[in-house]
Amino acid sequence: MHRSRQTAPALLLCALAALAGCAAAVRPPAVAQAQAAAGALQLESRSKHSGGKGGEEKLNLRPIIGIVSQLGDPAPKGHSYIASSYVKLVESAGARAVPILCDMSKEEVERRFKAVNGILIPGGAQDLRPGQPFFDTVQQLVDLTIEANDNGNYFPLHGVCLGMEALSVAVSRNHSILSDYDSENLPSPLFLTDIAASGRSRFFSALPPQVVEHLQTRPYAMENHAHGLAWTAVEENPRMKEFFDVLSLSVDRVGKVYVSTMEAKKYPISATQWHPEKNAFEWTPDKDIPHHPDAIEVTQEVANFFVSEARRNFHAPASQDEEEDLLIYNWAPSYTGKHKYKGEEVDFVESYFFPLAPEFKRQLAAKRQARQAQRAPAAAAAAEE
Ligand SMILES: *[C@@H]1O[C@H](CO)[C@@H](O)[C@H](O)[C@H]1NC(C)=O
Repeated sequence: MHRSRQTAPALLLCALAALAGCAAAVRPPAVAQAQAAAGALQLESRSKHSGGKGGEEKLNLRPIIGIVSQLGDPAPKGHSYIASSYVKLVESAGARAVPILCDMSKEEVERRFKAVNGILIPGGAQDLRPGQPFFDTVQQLVDLTIEANDNGNYFPLHGVCLGMEALSVAVSRNHSILSDYDSENLPSPLFLTDIAASGRSRFFSALPPQVVEHLQTRPYAMENHAHGLAWTAVEENPRMKEFFDVLSLSVDRVGKVYVSTMEAKKYPISATQWHPEKNAFEWTPDKDIPHHPDAIEVTQEVANFFVSEARRNFHAPASQDEEEDLLIYNWAPSYTGKHKYKGEEVDFVESYFFPLAPEFKRQLAAKRQARQAQRAPAAAAAAEE
């Protein structure tokens, strides 16, 4: 900053006048006390930063969350996307985001898994069958998360909407475990199961009591899905029943009941069929997203819950250079929610786009060719009969 010679003394005089005003209002002993307290606090915060003192839990104060990208609208051709609201969700609670692209190689997904402290699987619309890039990436991340935790390495994962559905398919190994629901654009209340109501769930116990009360008594859970998980499907699938506690239920337009919140019994894995990120960060006027201040608090507290879980993990990029190369700050979001944005999907106010890897594009082209080649002889055979 450039300042002229004449204004510098004037500024100094102002500062002195302010100090004099201050000294008149505050008694000198308070100044000495403030200085002593500040010195002690600075020492304490330094020791906390390096991992806490005896007895206190060690926390990772620079948590990073991996967020999975997906194919399709609003991504332009040859790209995958992440809706910015998921990035904002983790950023709002003091974490940074790293994209995990659905077209990445298994090796690269694993490398990123070892650099992040939690995984967020976003909502959207994808084919949840093995062999599909988004689903395969989710399956690998779920398997890596379970393996890490089994090895005593606390590692959280949270799925939202499609993310919860993908998690259900990945854990159940049954891609017909989901059923149809009429719950698009239907903000709803949550009905807590006994486990959640009696304070035995990590997810609901972490939320302040007034937030849990609002979620039960007001339609603040932004539901926006055509598929979902029936409680009977959890009960009937031995893998699901052993793995998950159902924490809340909600009801669709025609009275069908689905699982709206669940968490793993033995792992820091949780899922919401509803969208915590939309209340504070999505603004499409075509949807009835709850924006009441108490609904915004739902976004904030779910973010606090998930990022607190991530602070218990100590994965880290190999170097500062690697960290900087991985972070989402290398990309700029597009304003996809703008009125008359080209593309059907205007539900997301902002989205990040990532070019597909050349190798992935080659594989797609090869699969397409193989399908065409299969179809050609089949058609010829049919003509002969
Ligand atoms: C998959 O889940 C659905 C819904 O619970 C069930 O009807 C079906 O029998 C299951 N399939 C297998 C192979 O277990």
